[in-house]
Amino acid sequence: MTHYSVMLNETIEVLKINPSGIYVDATLGGGGHSELILKQLTSGHLYAFDQDSYAITKAQSRLQKYENNLTIIKSNFLYIKEELLKLGITKIDGIIFDLGLSSFQIDDSTRGFSYMSDSLLDMRMDLNSSFSAFNIVNEYSYTSLRDIFFKYGEEKNASNIAKVIIERRPLSTTKEIVDICDKLNYKEKGHSSKKVFQALRIETNNEIKILENTLVKVLPLLKTGGIIAVISFHSLEDRIVKHFFLDNAKTNIPKEIVILNAEKPPLTILTRHPILPSDKEILENSRSKSAKLRAAIKN
Ligand SMILES: C[S@@+](CC[C@H](N)C(=O)[O-])C[C@H]1O[C@@H](n2cnc3c(N)ncnc32)[C@H](O)[C@@H]1O
Repeated sequence: MTHYSVMLNETIEVLKINPSGIYVDATLGGGGHSELILKQLTSGHLYAFDQDSYAITKAQSRLQKYENNLTIIKSNFLYIKEELLKLGITKIDGIIFDLGLSSFQIDDSTRGFSYMSDSLLDMRMDLNSSFSAFNIVNEYSYTSLRDIFFKYGEEKNASNIAKVIIERRPLSTTKEIVDICDKLNYKEKGHSSKKVFQALRIETNNEIKILENTLVKVLPLLKTGGIIAVISFHSLEDRIVKHFFLDNAKTNIPKEIVILNAEKPPLTILTRHPILPSDKEILENSRSKSAKLRAAIKN
């Protein structure tokens, strides 16, 4: 399956690309957003991050003709500041985050991301990492398992699922988790294992903490007028982005007090409500259904 880039045109529109600007694609994936940015650059440059070496190899061949304007960096985006500094970059004109997984990763039956195929418990985006879903399922305490299913999956049956996992250990395949969820979640409307898989994936890749910490690091990198755009795919991610933007877009000065030359807050929000994919896009790519795009500009 190919990877459909979500809200491609909407993202590029919101970024207002300056052809000679410095841009970052924090989540290269299949290279769709990167390609559209690169098409608009003349003397500008794009730094594209991914922690998955397989994604990098694929995107490299797709983006070969833009090699003069492109530097691909195999790294977690958490290290954005340090990696850019190594290349002498301290300020950027814009950045895009298209969070989560690409279809290549989900559809690769060896990586353990999908509840639709049987595979070893893995779910690492970074194949060099020594920590996988296997460690969580086989080593976490009952309380920790229950809490991650509840917190990262919003799984109502978190306690029972955690209890049965502990009883059945050792577990090594995704099918063993699916079987447990099928039995306990037979009343669920969607797939019985969807929420548990989401939770395991988020925990395996430490996605929530990394997103929170990275947003804080990006703010000082943006030039005045620089734009940050984030596409999220579930409510936990969206909440983090929304609150980060809101917190950085407020002044501490009460409305009734007018101060001439008062300092502006760091950000102005460009999307009062998140931008959502069109009905046409959802029809063409059902995975875009839960996507939300938010953007803000640095003051
Ligand atoms: C949804 S895909 C991006 C798709 C891309 N925008 C496109 O148009 O093809 C997300 C990609 O980001 C990568 N990724 C997710 N979290 C990351 C992180 N913390 N650091 C680096 N890469 C990350 C994943 O490995 C995946 O390849």
